[in-house]
Parts: sequence; structure tokens; C-alpha cells
Amino acid sequence: MASEFTGVSDVHDRLEAAGYLPDQSIETVVYLAERLGKPILVEGPAGVGKTELAKAVAEARNAALIRLQCYEGLDEAKALYEWNYKKQLLRITHARGGDAEGGEDWDAVEDDLFGEDYLMERPLLKALRHEGESVLLIDEVDKVDFEFEALLLEILSDFQVTIPELGTVTGTHHPFVVLTSNNTRELSEALKRRCLYLYLDYPTVEREKEIVLSRVPDAPEKLADQLVRIVRSLRQLELKKPPSISETLDWAQTLLELGFDTIDEDVARGTMNVLLKYQQDVEKASSHLKLPPRPEMN
Ligand SMILES: Nc1ncnc2c1ncn2[C@@H]1O[C@H](COP(=O)(O)OP(=O)(O)O)[C@@H](O)[C@H]1O
Ligand SMILES: [Mg+2]
Repeated sequence: MASEFTGVSDVHDRLEAAGYLPDQSIETVVYLAERLGKPILVEGPAGVGKTELAKAVAEARNAALIRLQCYEGLDEAKALYEWNYKKQLLRITHARGGDAEGGEDWDAVEDDLFGEDYLMERPLLKALRHEGESVLLIDEVDKVDFEFEALLLEILSDFQVTIPELGTVTGTHHPFVVLTSNNTRELSEALKRRCLYLYLDYPTVEREKEIVLSRVPDAPEKLADQLVRIVRSLRQLELKKPPSISETLDWAQTLLELGFDTIDEDVARGTMNVLLKYQQDVEKASSHLKLPPRPEMN
């Protein structure tokens, strides 16, 4: 199957077939990223489909998805490669005890110790060495520190890395790179310059309704319509954690499981905890929806 996108509408159709409903800006950026061979930096609040976009692009391009999940303190050893220290130790122990004459020739052992068999490939190296088409997802890149960001930048610009003991590894197939950020800190200008930028916000009610209907196909249209409107109005309150698409989908699923096909005050009150994760948000939402507070138990 052809993996290159032939145009923006082809991107649209193939993402949709992969279960992802794009809007115009998404499909345009994905198309351009492929044409220009540039990474996409997707920024936006949690739960709006950033990670899912990378997965869908991989599926749409029939490519392997290689994921580097970022976190505070992520370092080269976990992102690029590390030597299998335990296995090396075993090898050394074995070499020493080899025979009574004092073991194997050390040079030969050392060659072994820093060879392929003892190398643990991490996502970045894996993406560089991957033979076929791949999508490299560098997820939540805002969680790493500046130093690591610089390393990423270097790899993204050269598509090569030098392993002192093995030499330089140069990627033959450039992966399609998607970086995501929840915007918890500013990323460097240099990284932004290298990427095409895509801001994903909460979807319009129409698009969110389509997403609900595609992801929770048993949901009646009227229910989907009603719930996306309620979610929309909740997002306009100043909540500590506004409900995202994930929560909208969870809510739709919950209502279905409970057998509701319309949302009244009782239903909303009883299921609000699926949408909102802070008590203060629940209280705010209840008064906004003009729901009387739950009676105190005594
Ligand atoms: N455009 C979309 N089409 C279909 N499903 C979507 C879309 N955007 C988000 N979703 C759904 O929302 C969920 C959360 O998206 P995710 O990519 O995990 O959010 P983020 O990475 O932005 O925090 C996904 O599991 C997916 O089911
Ligand atoms: Mg994510």
C-alpha cells in the first residue's frame, strides 16, 4: 500500500480511516510535514488528541510507530542507547573463570562487550536504524530539561548519532517526527524553528460530536449533541481541569452503560465525576448547570 500522502484530502481520508477526525489545519500541517520532511510540534491542552494524531499518522502511512515518552530526568541512556551492564558483567565473569591459565584474551572480550549483543537500543536509536517507514513520536517534550532538548535538536537536524564504541549511525529512512507538548514550559526557539507548529485546541461542538459518534458508535446522535454542548459550556468556566475530549468520550460511554439517552440534572449530577476531577470544579459546574447541591448526609 502506498504510504506517501498524495494531497491534503488524501491525508484527511486516511486519518479518518485510521479513526482520527482531523480538521483543516491538522490535515494541512501533516501533508506539509511530509512534503518538507520537517517534524511537527503539536501543542495544546491535555486530552485534545496530540498523541493520538501521531498514532493515526503511523497507521495512515502504514508505518511503524516508535514512541519516546518524555519525563523529567529522561537522559540519553533511556532515550538513545545504553550498554547492558549486567550482561557485560556476566561476560567478564565468564571470561575470567574461563580456564585455569587466567581466562580469555582481554582484547577479544572487550570487543565483545561493546558490540551489538550488549547494546540496548532505545527509541531514538531505534528510529534512526529502522529500515522501513516509521513515525517517531516524542511525546510530552516539555517535560525534559533544556540540555536534553539540545540533544534532540541535534538528532533531528542531522539524523545521526555517534556511539563512541561503534561509530556513527546515520538514519537512511528519515522518520516522520511528531513532538507533542502540553505547554508546561516554553520550548527553545531553536526547536520551534526546526518544526512545523500545530496548535490543537478543544474542538468545535460539531467536530467533537463527530468524534463522539465515531469513537462511541452506539451513542444516539441526540445524546452526543447534548453532551458535547454541556462539555463546551463547562470549558468556558474557569475550571482547574477543564474536561478534554478523553473525558467527553468517557462520559458518553458512561451514559450509555447506565442506559441514559438524555441528560437531565440528576443524570448530570450523578455522573459529573467522569468529567471533572476536582471537587471545586464539580461545585462550580453544579451551580453553573443550575443543579442544586447534593443534600448533606447526616
Ligand atoms: N480528532 C480526533 N479523532 C478521534 N479521536 C480523538 C481525536 N482527538 C482526540 N481523540 C480521542 O481523545 C483521546 C485523547 O487524546 P490524546 O491524543 O491522548 O490526547 P493528548 O495527547 O492531547 O493529551 C484519544 O484517545 C482519542 O480517543
Ligand atoms: Mg498525550
